[in-house]
Amino acid sequence: METTFVMLKPGVLQRRIAGEVLNRFEKKGLKVVALKLTRMSLEMVEAHYAEHKGRDFYNKLLEYTLSGPVIAMILEGEDAIAVVRRIVGPTNLLEAPAGTIRGDYAARTRLNIVHASDSPASAARETALFFRPDEICPWKDGNAEWF
Ligand code: CMP
Repeated sequence: METTFVMLKPGVLQRRIAGEVLNRFEKKGLKVVALKLTRMSLEMVEAHYAEHKGRDFYNKLLEYTLSGPVIAMILEGEDAIAVVRRIVGPTNLLEAPAGTIRGDYAARTRLNIVHASDSPASAARETALFFRPDEICPWKDGNAEWF
């Protein structure tokens, strides 16, 4: 089993599609083991997106991420990082197929609806940025064999 970090960006609440987006992950059989609605501080956004500092879209990305609350979550499942990335779709929206979250809900790469960790190292780093250990709630999965 693996866990991954996912963040629904501020436009998701604005558009009232948080339930629809979360449903994509649940339908696949991923387990929600942590979930919070929160407003990121500038320091958190800078840490979260540190690898993009200096890119031409960086300032706009910060501005958008700070524009309202985000929904942060930890999802658990077999190969959760790769599975979630496939459900989310590619960062470049021209490559995001219909049926993926980004392909279905986003028209601009910068406003791509959702962030998902791309490796075990980033999942660990991003999880620690958003959640204290006591905010993570493991639970026994009585349905695992059906997914
Ligand atoms: P995310 O998965 O949150 O990780 C970095 C974010 O930067 C990405 O989603 C997009 O919101 C944004 N981003 C990445 N590449 C570009 C780009 N070429 N143009 C605009 N925004 C981008």
